[in-house]
Amino acid sequence: MIRASLSRRQFTTTLGAGLGAALVEGPFGARRAEAGRPSTRPGNTPADAVLLNSNENPYGPAASALDAITKSESVAARYPDAAEARLTEAIARLHGVAADRVVLGCGSGEVLQMADMAFLGPGKKVVVAEPTFEAVLGYARVTKAEPVKVPLTADFRHDLPRMAAACDAGTGLVYVCNPNNPTGTIVTKDELAFFLERVPRTVSILVDEAYHHFVDDPHYASAFEWIDKAPNVVVVRTFSKVYGMAGMRLGYAVSSKENAEALRAHAAWSNANAAVLAAALASLAESDHVPRQRSINREIRDWLCRELERDGRRYIPSHANFLMVDVGGDVQPLIDSFRERRILVGRKFPSLPNWLRVSMGTKPEMQAFVDGLRAIAPARAARAS
Ligand SMILES: Cc1ncc(COP(=O)(O)O)c(C=O)c1O
Repeated sequence: MIRASLSRRQFTTTLGAGLGAALVEGPFGARRAEAGRPSTRPGNTPADAVLLNSNENPYGPAASALDAITKSESVAARYPDAAEARLTEAIARLHGVAADRVVLGCGSGEVLQMADMAFLGPGKKVVVAEPTFEAVLGYARVTKAEPVKVPLTADFRHDLPRMAAACDAGTGLVYVCNPNNPTGTIVTKDELAFFLERVPRTVSILVDEAYHHFVDDPHYASAFEWIDKAPNVVVVRTFSKVYGMAGMRLGYAVSSKENAEALRAHAAWSNANAAVLAAALASLAESDHVPRQRSINREIRDWLCRELERDGRRYIPSHANFLMVDVGGDVQPLIDSFRERRILVGRKFPSLPNWLRVSMGTKPEMQAFVDGLRAIAPARAARAS
């Protein structure tokens, strides 16, 4: 391997020069920048860079999960079948379903790919909001399915009535990202119920709840409410966000037994490694990790909103661990200026060209972001739009 022949210093220098490339779109364009691959991984990023670009959890895994990762060295030599079964059962118990309705993925990204492979193909349509998390469209391109993009409402939420109306006999999949990435907005329980009734049963409904744990709004509901009543619903979750394990790669789907089988047909064998299986099991057993992370996120998000309001800046109220700010003009030069300051923020979303997406970091990181914003885009300029 080339890496093995480089010293650590050479490696860092070589890849440090690639920091700009991290924000250049690759074959999956947005997806690469979104996930920060390959150039925003720790080895590729200046050690002092502030990473507010991929909606990760800056606090990392729960202590017990870290401990489980360390201890997993004792099973590193063995295939992790038993651990996979244990975690699958734990997820099934958590959601009150049979284990054969749970499908693990190497990150929820792999689950999205499985869904595209299972439910799409040439001549099929995939209905999505615009903008939303792009991975589903990226993988759909490979299947040669036709994308149908439905713009968000004026308040930046999924337009579910229009999305339902766009679903017909030729639709294989409709994707609902709730909360939505990049806007952080939600659809309510009632809106989702109305939508699920209207979408034909022949259409698979993929509800991506990557940011579910950060939502406090009482009008919101997880699609798990309908998982038994609507056999076409597939709910997707991840350990990358609230559980702080984006680098460990684990996500899952829960659906009907038939849809789980259809998804599993496109999964790689042993797609979850022993360390992440052990860490996920430990995370689920921790009763206070999720509430603690949710409250930390809420506190920092509220603080950021107050700072933005002090400046008179417009932002989209968010239910997730990121937020969009109106910068009053093309966001790209701002993204570049932040990068010069070693602060990585979200990429430009072409349908929201004046909006900057920033992930929640620690308090000092968010202070650095606010200071940077005030220096790069003084509040009056931002207000002028
Ligand atoms: C809405 C959404 N779904 C899925 C993913 C993929 O996450 P992972 O593959 O790390 O589980 C992301 C990543 O940012 C996301 O924002």
